Amino acid sequence: MTQPTDPADRHGEANSILGTAGVSRDRLDSADSERASRAWWDADAADYHRTHGEFLGVDSAAGEFVWCPEGLHEGDVRLLGDVAGRDVLEVGCGSAPCARWLAGQGARAVGLDLSMGMLTRG
Ligand SMILES: C[S@@+](CC[C@H](N)C(=O)[O-])C[C@H]1O[C@@H](n2cnc3c(N)ncnc32)[C@H](O)[C@@H]1O
Repeated sequence: MTQPTDPADRHGEANSILGTAGVSRDRLDSADSERASRAWWDADAADYHRTHGEFLGVDSAAGEFVWCPEGLHEGDVRLLGDVAGRDVLEVGCGSAPCARWLAGQGARAVGLDLSMGMLTRG
């Protein structure tokens, strides 16, 4: 499994849609935070999958469960133990490769995400 590439234009589409040009700090309430996350992930969904889709196994029929950028795979490390027959809620499932992998292991997996762009890719 190879690491995702990190080209300079990695977030080009989202930056262009949202007009983002840099980093700033501000106090946000929960509703602002949700709105900002949704706007970002909707705008970045295509680029995210272009740069991370293969690494995350998004198009694998059985799904994949990759924990982190180091490529730690649940199928190798079994941090969750035996998931067969368990109810699993994945918050922030994106296009749901982990939830699909869990379902393939016999779990009753439910994925939840606030970005329609990410869910649509799934
Ligand atoms: C880095 S992606 C990870 C996607 C997926 N878990 C994977 O491993 O491929 C983070 C996801 O979290 C979602 N997210 C961020 N904040 C969230 C929130 N408050 N509630 C639900 N989903 C959220 C984003 O929309 C995005 O799809």
